[in-house]
Amino acid sequence: MFENIRNNFPVFEKYPQLIFLDTAASAQKPRTVIESVSNCYSYEYANINRGVYKLSSELTEKYENVRIKTSKYINAENKDNIVFTKSATEAINLVASCFSEKYLDSGDEILLSYLEHHANIVPWQLAAKKKGFKIIVININQEGQLDYEDFIKKINNKTKFISITHMSNVLGTTIDIQIIREQAKKFNIPFLIDGCQHIAHAPVDVKSLGCDFYVYSGHKLYGPSGVGVLYMKNQWLNQFDPYQGGGDMIKNVDFKKTTFTTGYQKFEAGTPPIVQVIGLGASYDFMSQFNLQEIFKYEKELYEYAVDKLKSFNDVKIIGHSKNKGAILSFTIDNIHPNDIGLIFDQQNVAVRTGHHCAQPLLKKLNLNATTRASFGIYNNKSDVDSFIEAVRETKKFLKHKL
Ligand SMILES: Cc1ncc(COP(=O)(O)O)c(C=O)c1O
Repeated sequence: MFENIRNNFPVFEKYPQLIFLDTAASAQKPRTVIESVSNCYSYEYANINRGVYKLSSELTEKYENVRIKTSKYINAENKDNIVFTKSATEAINLVASCFSEKYLDSGDEILLSYLEHHANIVPWQLAAKKKGFKIIVININQEGQLDYEDFIKKINNKTKFISITHMSNVLGTTIDIQIIREQAKKFNIPFLIDGCQHIAHAPVDVKSLGCDFYVYSGHKLYGPSGVGVLYMKNQWLNQFDPYQGGGDMIKNVDFKKTTFTTGYQKFEAGTPPIVQVIGLGASYDFMSQFNLQEIFKYEKELYEYAVDKLKSFNDVKIIGHSKNKGAILSFTIDNIHPNDIGLIFDQQNVAVRTGHHCAQPLLKKLNLNATTRASFGIYNNKSDVDSFIEAVRETKKFLKHKL
């Protein structure tokens, strides 16, 4: 099913030798996405929501059509529950700011976990500094899975919000959202899911997840950078005050009193990421040719194949062993710094991420400063894994000689 997919990605035409194992940072782009962006700038471009002329109204319709595609992709109630932002980071900042402004005060608590990306930590810290609420962190176990008992222990009547990843960008751990939802419901607490690492690898159904908010970035879904998606339940669309002010989100502006539009428009101030949204539409079309469960299975097989081969190196340690994890392989090699690994890999055309992966609290919890991370996408295959293993062998040979 995935054998010829690589041909859809122009980057591999220019660099046929490239072994791209950094999809968790940002996915490569299929030709159709690139063409949709290029066509839009070349032949369809005008500002949207403003012009009475055809070019503008047609692009407005196309843009709104992507809102419909987005709602279908994640099974939202309605297209009106989708807010476009510039990134997942902006989406989380929006929720942290709007929710804390109205509903959080000193004495309140919110729950995050050790698995979070900085994008799901720092916005809450900024809000906590303003409003005085406490951030409580849910523990993880030896396998890198959320400690659900600790979660249940830490949730109480002071807890007012839960913000949690769907899949860890360092360990690949997937969270059992049903447990989160049950507890959130019991205490009547809204919750946000950071779906950045999940969205391109398995189906997402926000209705069955039962979350109040779901966020991801277009660039992780083989789409353009510069666009994020925020799914929000109606209740919050209605109750939140605007996050930013400017054009497009107002009904009437007067120096005495300004009134705002309602729904998603209230949260899309200024010229939106027009062309990025159009490109995101093309990435939904690209993804729609696949069964998303099959993608998870396929990428996981590559992951398992790599793990199996790594067993022959007794100084390679894989970090994170939870069940049902996604295809993200973090590892260390004894006495070799991940940055050196990354550089030597690069000489062999193997692109991996090294460092703290914007998850310093998690790395600290694991007593690590950095790891090397290989993450899989739809264009990878077993021969990529073989090259990856060869790169590990070469790195060890090259650097251990120098020790
Ligand atoms: C789990 C997770 N959350 C949030 C983000 C932030 O995404 P962005 O930088 O596109 O806003 C990332 C990016 O790597 C991520 O992996």
